[in-house]
Amino acid sequence: MRPPSAKVDRLRHLALAQWAAAERRDLPWRQTRDPWLVLVSEVMLQQTQVDRVRPHFVAFAQRWPTPESCAQASLAEVLSAWQGLGYPRRARNLWRAAGMITEQHGGGVPDGLDDLLALPGVGPYTARAVQAFAFGADVGVVDTNVGRILARWTGRRLTPAEAQRIADDSVPAGEGWSWNQVMMDLGARVCTRRDPQCDACPVCAWCAWTGSDAPDPAERSAGTSTRQPRFEGSDRQARGRLLAALSSAHLERDQAAAAMGLEHDLQRTERLVADLIAEGLITSRIDHLRLG
Ligand code: ADE
Repeated sequence: MRPPSAKVDRLRHLALAQWAAAERRDLPWRQTRDPWLVLVSEVMLQQTQVDRVRPHFVAFAQRWPTPESCAQASLAEVLSAWQGLGYPRRARNLWRAAGMITEQHGGGVPDGLDDLLALPGVGPYTARAVQAFAFGADVGVVDTNVGRILARWTGRRLTPAEAQRIADDSVPAGEGWSWNQVMMDLGARVCTRRDPQCDACPVCAWCAWTGSDAPDPAERSAGTSTRQPRFEGSDRQARGRLLAALSSAHLERDQAAAAMGLEHDLQRTERLVADLIAEGLITSRIDHLRLG
């Protein structure tokens, strides 16, 4: 016999599906089920806004439509193409993942959780996003939007294991692709972090938090993001400047400080250059710096 909540769940699913029919965002990675392209999009979306990812994704997909084509490119080329997305370790990891997929999986992105998690740069979120969005698996994809919705629905702060279990349990059978997409859209458009539009929410009847005076249970709940540190003046900004400069030309090591805007801080320059070398993002030969 079905559990008594099944009917309630079905109504919630219907309410969300109806909302999605009018409100679903049209995004380029939603037009493909190709596992490699889904992986590329999800890695880009890990830390970068949808609008910024859009053109980069389209260009990347055209240039490297398969893991093998990406693995054959140089790391420098992939890092150059990544310019503007930030967090370039992701590009390095994706390029390494392309190599592993080519060598260990016959060129096809694996569909098993453990195989996906073994790829560099692929964590619980990205692995399940590939399973749901490429392979149509009925797993819950807990990104920052979904983590926020789940905490509000249940009315309490969740641990990562709880959030994953609740997310998995709420996927209607056979709807892994569309359910997770609509959850992300609901979080982006209605159940937003700072200004939730409960009046416009198709599923507020299922939400423990709506209309209550309690503090937002999504604060610091599993999957929800913490505020990003300031970019201006940060190491991340200086590193990004050096990588951008190296995308168009090689540099002498003593030009690095100027490229990073750190002429007055040679100690910091040295530390950042050493970090970039250690992370495999740049190489230094005879005081000559280059990408990759
Ligand atoms: N569709 C699939 N994955 C997505 C994501 N991470 N963000 C927004 N829309 C998506």
